[in-house]
Amino acid sequence: MQWIPEYKADVPRVERFNFLARFSHWGHTVTFLLCLFTGLALFLSDAGWLAAIFGGYAGAGLVHRIAAVGLTIILAIGMVAGFKGIIAWFQDILRFGVNDIMFIVKFPLEFFGFPVKVPPQTRFNGGEKGNSMVTPTMVILLVLSGYIMWFPAIFPGGLVRVAYWTHDIAMVLGTVMVSMHAYLGSFHPGSGESFWGMWKGTVRADWAKHHHAIWYEETYGDKKDAE
Ligand code: HEM
Ligand code: HEM
Repeated sequence: MQWIPEYKADVPRVERFNFLARFSHWGHTVTFLLCLFTGLALFLSDAGWLAAIFGGYAGAGLVHRIAAVGLTIILAIGMVAGFKGIIAWFQDILRFGVNDIMFIVKFPLEFFGFPVKVPPQTRFNGGEKGNSMVTPTMVILLVLSGYIMWFPAIFPGGLVRVAYWTHDIAMVLGTVMVSMHAYLGSFHPGSGESFWGMWKGTVRADWAKHHHAIWYEETYGDKKDAE
């Protein structure tokens, strides 16, 4: 398996994510994973070994709630302080078109090593646009259902039961998405450079030109001045 590609400081680089986006992304990653592992300790029967890592079932429940509050705060900071960035993100998702569909159709072939020519992509490619729609929706469902489960006395009993189902289904779908996403954003040959965009803020200019040609042209290329 290939590890994350070497970070090259001595080649032209372009900014991909600002500090706020990176802080928010890694903040919700840590809190999401803490919620996931503590949640699994409560969800799976016979996961005493997992609960033991957090000091038992009561400890897992406590860490789950602390991480949940951390996740909520980080999401709130990201949404308020990064409002302009969120709008730009939505606008890019709404540009979903033929090139994105072609990306989604061709990507599995590239994933398994077949040589394919992927059409030019905007800031987020077709797969990332899909991830941008599904994963945040699951996180929002987890947050809303989670608070209903936390304070059952103030909600109708039927809603609390629905919240448990919602929490479990959103956990499974969110975890499947995050697992694929984490691999593609780190070890996957070809897309690994994107890790540096999220870690240090910049990616190699040649990589950006190749993987996100439309975004590169509009942000750093000839089309920048045309706008
Ligand atoms: C604001 C965010 C969240 C809140 C307020 C929240 C709250 C809760 C609460 C109150 C429980 C019941 C705990 C107990 O019985 O002691 C719970 C269970 C659970 N949570 Fe969360 N949670 C949140 C986010 C997450 C996330 C992000 C995940 C996974 C990715 C997750 C996965 C689980 C699982 C698997 C359970 C066990 C459910 C069951 O037993 O059916 N939670 N959560
Ligand atoms: C666990 C390790 C993770 C790694 C290595 C990782 C890596 C990355 C990288 C490199 C990007 C930037 C991709 C680009 O250049 O456009 C990114 C974006 C993103 N990440 Fe993560 N991430 C992780 C966890 C998570 C988690 C837990 C969530 C949400 C619960 C999440 C949600 C997103 C979203 C919505 C985007 C923007 C859309 C996209 O690029 O797919 N990530 N991530």
